[in-house]
Amino acid sequence: MLIKKITLSQFRNYSFQSFDFSEKIVCICGPNGSGKTNLLDAIHFLCFTKSYFSKPENTNATIGLQGFRLDGVMENTHGLHNITCIYRENGRKEFLVNDEPCKKFSHHIGKFPAVFIAPDDAFILSGLPENRRALIDSIISQTDSVYLNKLIEYRKVLDQRNSFLKNAFINHYSDKDLLDSYDQQLCRLNNLIFEKRNLFLKNFLPMVIQEYRQIAGDSDKVTIAYLSQLQGKNIEELLRQNLDRDMYLQRTGMGIHKDDLEIKMNDMLFKNTASQGQRKSLLFALKLAAFEIIRAKKNFPPLLLLDDVFEKLDENRIQGLLKKVCLENDGQVFITDTHADRLQHACNALQVPFQLITL
Ligand SMILES: Nc1ncnc2c1ncn2[C@@H]1O[C@H](COP(=O)(O)OP(=O)(O)O)[C@@H](O)[C@H]1O
Ligand SMILES: [Mg+2]
Repeated sequence: MLIKKITLSQFRNYSFQSFDFSEKIVCICGPNGSGKTNLLDAIHFLCFTKSYFSKPENTNATIGLQGFRLDGVMENTHGLHNITCIYRENGRKEFLVNDEPCKKFSHHIGKFPAVFIAPDDAFILSGLPENRRALIDSIISQTDSVYLNKLIEYRKVLDQRNSFLKNAFINHYSDKDLLDSYDQQLCRLNNLIFEKRNLFLKNFLPMVIQEYRQIAGDSDKVTIAYLSQLQGKNIEELLRQNLDRDMYLQRTGMGIHKDDLEIKMNDMLFKNTASQGQRKSLLFALKLAAFEIIRAKKNFPPLLLLDDVFEKLDENRIQGLLKKVCLENDGQVFITDTHADRLQHACNALQVPFQLITL
């Protein structure tokens, strides 16, 4: 899978600009604020129908203007595809593949898979559990459309149940049958999503640890465990037992929306003890394992979008990483850096053809 071309119209700092990508390794250079991250994020948009960064959609249009448009040409085993994302002035977003409107954006997820490594990704390790769930969901969704649909359904029913709890609290009255129907749906979806996460993580987590060892050596004992209230428990019972509390707090406290990953290093919480370098290494390990697992499931490598990775790792590690993602991988890789010479030097050392785009 390749992206051959992208055109950005009124997208952040780009008023109107096209880029042709002629190689599998594309280096994007330019000073701070020149639009490197924005260009990678535009590619992310075409793969995921949205930005990698959670910002309000209207902030993606160039300041002072309304609406933006992204057009890309992607190639996969079925040939070339024109992908278009239009954000209209009225706030509506449209997504088209070969001029055919996407009725459900979720149908597009996984068709053109990608893995993004961004400078501020540390929040995945140290931030809220929802960040870690988002990472897991993004990986599984790209290889399993049933999972994504069930997740969307789960969020909808969970919202409905939470509104129900709010109303019941305000009105001092609740419709038992309606609650039972929400709970039945939630139980079914909880079990299904838990099962899929469990299966995925059994495979994925050992890969992360292996990648981490390759990047950082084996002196640190890193462990990652899947935490879920559903482990060894019956969700029907959990919902029943927690009902009084849910009614009081007006939200649902039990379920896969509370799942997390517990990351430890030498038996202490990783976020409390890991050094900057160890955090960076683990982030890379997570992303590279994601890359490998998607590649294995899809039978082709996803796009790899590496934003400012040179700022993150020392030269040896960078060379090792580039060797892995540029030489041992036949997919397309985008790498940004503020220093053209540093990037050129690293690619020249690998003796691989690459394209250099200077912003
Ligand atoms: N909505 C917007 N309209 C115009 N410019 C924007 C918008 N959003 C961000 N920018 C500009 O884009 C630039 C940042 O681009 P970015 O891709 O993050 O740069 P780089 O990654 O090369 O450092 C900044 O100069 C910022 O002001
Ligand atoms: Mg940047």
